[in-house]
Amino acid sequence: MTETVPGLLRGRPADHGADLREGRAARRSGDHGPGRSVDGGAFRRALAVHAAGVVVITAQSGGVPAGMTATSFSSVSLDPPLVAFYVDQDSTTWPRLRAADHFAVNILGSDQAELAARFAGRGVDRFAAPTRWSPGPLGAPLLRDVSAHLVCLPYETTAVGDHILVVGLVAEAVVHGPGRPLLYHQGRFGRFIPHP
Ligand SMILES: Cc1cc2nc3c(=O)[nH]c(=O)nc-3n(C[C@H](O)[C@H](O)[C@H](O)COP(=O)(O)O)c2cc1C
Repeated sequence: MTETVPGLLRGRPADHGADLREGRAARRSGDHGPGRSVDGGAFRRALAVHAAGVVVITAQSGGVPAGMTATSFSSVSLDPPLVAFYVDQDSTTWPRLRAADHFAVNILGSDQAELAARFAGRGVDRFAAPTRWSPGPLGAPLLRDVSAHLVCLPYETTAVGDHILVVGLVAEAVVHGPGRPLLYHQGRFGRFIPHP
């Protein structure tokens, strides 16, 4: 199932995905053959070994800022410049991100583990102090002291399993710092140590 996000949409490619979508529908319904998918524990343990950079996705919806921590962020395409992340279908942040006409990707630095934890927690105002932020060029909140930020226009969303793939066309990319990254590995935040 491919769905178009309301709001700005530019340069979307032609739809070549009918066969693939049929395959996706079969997989979502669990029709992927006996013994073909790994059990949940082994899946989680293997993925925990994969270190990932940490971002906070932010948007402004109805005048209210929204944001969530994500490690599923990645680059997708150079031409056009596309990035993507995956959001849980049960996320309470997703409806507000979806309603926004653009979003920002805040790439966190190595000393921003507390900020990452705040934007993953429930029952807190993620944008209240000590979070420091200001509206970006199109309105989406930009977090202070991040390594870099991207401002993205909605390009495509696709339901994949229990998550939604969100692809954005990058309208602005600004590097603020040396880029020492915040990493997430085995359930913990950490730092990158380069080889000498
Ligand atoms: C390190 C880390 C990475 C995360 N990555 C993702 C992600 O890629 N996609 C996602 O949907 N949730 C991710 N989460 C969970 C969300 O940040 C958040 O906890 C979740 O969306 C629940 O909040 P919400 O209902 O307000 O959205 C991550 C959490 C942590 C701590």
